[in-house]
Amino acid sequence: MDSIRDAVRSRYARTAIQMQETGRCCDSACCGGTDAISGPIHEADYVTSELAEVGLTTGASLGCGNPTALAELHPGEIVLDLGSGAGLDVLLSARRVAPDGHAYGVDMTDEMLALANANKAKAGIQNATFLKGTIEAVPLPDASTDVVISNCVINLAADKSAVLREAFRVLRPGGRLAVADMVEVEPLPAEVKGALDAWSGCVAGTIPVAAYESALVSAGFVDLEVEITQTFGPGEAGLPAGDGKIASAYIRARRP
Ligand SMILES: C[S@@+](CC[C@H](N)C(=O)[O-])C[C@H]1O[C@@H](n2cnc3c(N)ncnc32)[C@H](O)[C@@H]1O
Repeated sequence: MDSIRDAVRSRYARTAIQMQETGRCCDSACCGGTDAISGPIHEADYVTSELAEVGLTTGASLGCGNPTALAELHPGEIVLDLGSGAGLDVLLSARRVAPDGHAYGVDMTDEMLALANANKAKAGIQNATFLKGTIEAVPLPDASTDVVISNCVINLAADKSAVLREAFRVLRPGGRLAVADMVEVEPLPAEVKGALDAWSGCVAGTIPVAAYESALVSAGFVDLEVEITQTFGPGEAGLPAGDGKIASAYIRARRP
């Protein structure tokens, strides 16, 4: 588990430095760079005018969708983004919940936190805070948030059940979970599942939708909705030749 976390942290530290220097992560606008993948985000996922309001482009996203659109945020709400990266979804959320709401991002990678704070300063947004921590042990109190979002991060965690339990814990009763993530659609070969670079590239850590749903239910969530948005086969999105398929998905649930 520690080796997975170290591999993930090291990849995203490198990516943050690259984003800081070039303004974007990689040619394919994905989380993994050229040697592995993640779900490519689509320009259409984000509204250009909204991006302009926070002074960012989709080059600041390492995600596989737009969970802020999925979550239907309202003024006054408290939002938490699990694995906030360069901060795009936190800053967009902060605008939507302003003036009285607040958006938090949690990330374990110092270089990403530095980039997110620089993006926050550039955007001139006050009601956003980036916290250092892991998504398996979120540094926020019980029942302290209205909405938990996440964009292409939960697949990176070795213990997804722990992450979903934490999401449940920090949500107030009635709170919503809105996640964009990668899932496994057809089994990947064992050598891919065991490769750390494929894990940190959002391939190897993917689990089937049924396993995701089961972990959500075990954590206590209800009203589950899962929508597959794009499927990738061998040779696509960093998947090696051979067997297996992964997909980007939108996942919604509620704490009763
Ligand atoms: C693929 S990037 C996605 C970033 C952001 N959500 C986005 O859409 O641009 C994954 C991010 O999650 C962070 N991360 C991965 N695993 C984590 C964990 N277990 N705890 C905290 N942060 C984690 C990484 O440091 C990185 O910033």
